[in-house]
Amino acid sequence: MHIATFGCQMNFHDSEKLRGVLEEMGYEPCDSEGEADFIVYNTCAVRENAEQRVYGRIGHLKSLKRKNPEMIIALCGCMMQQDTVIETLKKSHRHVDIVFGTHNIYKLAELLDTRLATGEQVFDIWDSYKDIVEDLPTVRKDKFKSSVNIIFGCNNFCSYCIVPYVRGRERSREPEDIIEEIRTLVSDGVVEVQLLGQNVNSYGKNLKGPVTFAQLLKRITEIEGLERIRFMTSHPKDLSDELIEVMASSDKICKSLHLPFQSGSTRILDRMNRRYTKESYLDLVRRIKAAMPDIALTTDIIVGFPEETEEDFQDTMDVVREVEYDSAFTFIYSKRTGTPAAVIEEQVPEEVSKDRFNRLLELVNGIANKKSLAHIGNSYKVLVEERNRQEDKMCTGRLDNGHLVHVVCEPEMIGKIIDVKITDGKTFHLIGEIIG
Ligand code: SAH
Ligand code: SF4
Ligand code: F3S
Repeated sequence: MHIATFGCQMNFHDSEKLRGVLEEMGYEPCDSEGEADFIVYNTCAVRENAEQRVYGRIGHLKSLKRKNPEMIIALCGCMMQQDTVIETLKKSHRHVDIVFGTHNIYKLAELLDTRLATGEQVFDIWDSYKDIVEDLPTVRKDKFKSSVNIIFGCNNFCSYCIVPYVRGRERSREPEDIIEEIRTLVSDGVVEVQLLGQNVNSYGKNLKGPVTFAQLLKRITEIEGLERIRFMTSHPKDLSDELIEVMASSDKICKSLHLPFQSGSTRILDRMNRRYTKESYLDLVRRIKAAMPDIALTTDIIVGFPEETEEDFQDTMDVVREVEYDSAFTFIYSKRTGTPAAVIEEQVPEEVSKDRFNRLLELVNGIANKKSLAHIGNSYKVLVEERNRQEDKMCTGRLDNGHLVHVVCEPEMIGKIIDVKITDGKTFHLIGEIIG
């Protein structure tokens, strides 16, 4: 079995569940597509180039299947929740066997049975979820850390974004289920969890007994044996003072925060339906930094949203300069059919977007470099995560604030937290040595 995953953390975690389900069915993982008898593509729809990549790879599978006609090809994930994609697959990709969406991963075994019994292409896409299915078998990539879903879906409908259409409405898991899952993970060797949601700050609103995200976090910090807690993503409009307080008061909660701002222009933010302004975002950042001066902030930024002018773009540059992000994901706006922004007439020409993108990237990288080098000479706790891919004697780990560091150390240290002094650094990684 070979699973290829596109898109965000959410998809990567879903793939760990897919792998769990497939291993239970008796399939074994295999690195090469050519040798696999079951191939799954877990797809992403957020930008057009993500979809193009998937179509390219599906086309390529046709020749593999000619060589191995028994091979089963399954497609799932966000792309499959769109009618136009399903039509294209039915028309032009008859070599695909099974297609399902984001709401019914746990039915994979049943879908395979149907495929084998009927010999027909199987499509099973649900418009919305039925129940949250707990306790799916999951094979996590790392022994010592794990992602944990806390809220699925999104209700925000940012005007450019396809996610609410392909992932459905918000629904939170019960706090007891989350705590129980984390306890089980910790007893199985996990020291770090990453709590996942499109907007973790709206966690708990739809539960029978409402709980805030901050309250949930506080309960998670009480789990013995758990060392590090991360979470993503936070929508700025819902980030509460209560959360800042809980973060600041616990050593277990990592001092890093992914806080996408998308655009610095209040006018564009309004068109994006983000529901905050340049000023309120900057004010929020000031409050966060006042409570946690060492926090590392990261973000997502879109350039070339319809009607964006040079002046709007300069507002975006202002925010980057003022906040000084440790790193930022920058995107050129991609038109998604079915979203409100797709029908705004005045789209920004590609050359203009590209030029803004390049200027933004230069600014972002310059600041990221400065932030990275500022670590040199200091000492930090580092969770050793994996062997370094280039240097045999080195391992790669992460500081609490999310920065990557390469250290000379034995692979036995993987999964352990060690003290490291930073001796050198580049924009995207640091070099350190073990102390103590
Ligand atoms: N829920 C998260 C983001 C999920 S999508 C949040 O609200 O922050 C990840 C990122 O992709 C977004 O933050 C946004 O910057 C980018 N993105 C989403 N739709 C896009 C589009 N149509 N074009 C370009 N970038 C997009
Ligand atoms: Fe998309 Fe906005 Fe929801 Fe994030 S909050 S997933 S950007 S609609
Ligand atoms: Fe992509 Fe779906 Fe994530 S559209 S970004 S994989 S939620």
